[in-house]
Amino acid sequence: MSIVDTKTNLYAVIGDPIFHSLSPVMHNRAFNHIGYNGVYVAFHVKDVAAAITGMRALDIKGFSVTIPHKRAIMEFVDELDEMAEKIGAVNTVVNEAGKLIGYNSDCLGAVKALKEITEIESKKIVILGAGGAARAIGFGMAGEGGLVTIVNRTVQKGERLARDIGAGFCPMDQVEQLDCHILINTTSVGMTPNIDQMPVPENMFKQAMTVMDIVYNPLKTLFLKTAHENGCTAIDGVAMFVYQGAFQFEQWTGRKAPVDVMREVVINALSGR
Ligand code: ATR
Repeated sequence: MSIVDTKTNLYAVIGDPIFHSLSPVMHNRAFNHIGYNGVYVAFHVKDVAAAITGMRALDIKGFSVTIPHKRAIMEFVDELDEMAEKIGAVNTVVNEAGKLIGYNSDCLGAVKALKEITEIESKKIVILGAGGAARAIGFGMAGEGGLVTIVNRTVQKGERLARDIGAGFCPMDQVEQLDCHILINTTSVGMTPNIDQMPVPENMFKQAMTVMDIVYNPLKTLFLKTAHENGCTAIDGVAMFVYQGAFQFEQWTGRKAPVDVMREVVINALSGR
């Protein structure tokens, strides 16, 4: 790490709980890699209002916001990015000379991870789940011109998200009727310890589909393994995480994010768990 001195730029993540966050290792490694004088720390925060007052007083240059504060933070920033406002959640704050601007980098990270592999415009996209992650990804896909269908176990919740996005809806038990170019899992199905589960039956996977999972624990979920075996291109959950972090890094430092280094450190941290 470069020497911490009076010029060091400070960054943070706030959440409750926070011990599981991979953002500190990812950002500190990236700062170090490009020789940027910055330090990123994790704060276990329950009182968002007090934390923001502290951030302003200490001139923290930027911070990430995780569960359960992504909504609450919105009323404390000075400006909201248009997409973050539409989604109704902020996970990234940039301090521009004292003005705090809120973004949703989950959305941007998902778009970027997919665009590395496929076009989004005019593609049929099925999103499994209707929680916070589905909301961010759904707005991102629709914003890029994707033709989105939300699929959820709880119908009312899924229909509400579909309506907000301007997407179609299909109940989870009818998912096999759908065909799509891009299939995205935002549910927790398949996450450790339930690694032998996947959210859809195997016949959903068709040759040449692009399939993304946001679960990264394990990195190779049954969903992604089965997709790969059926001739689909698989994108793991670390991709979205790293690209959302890359957006933060670039906003905060004005420098290009070392994406490969960030990915490597996250995968190493995961394998050490
Ligand atoms: P996040 O904010 O990470 O998206 P969330 O808000 O808890 O998490 O949303 C979890 C999503 O996974 C929900 O869409 C949930 O479906 P319900 O709305 O029906 O609860 C979905 N999910 C979780 N476990 C599931 C399971 N075993 N089968 C199908 N869907 C599941």
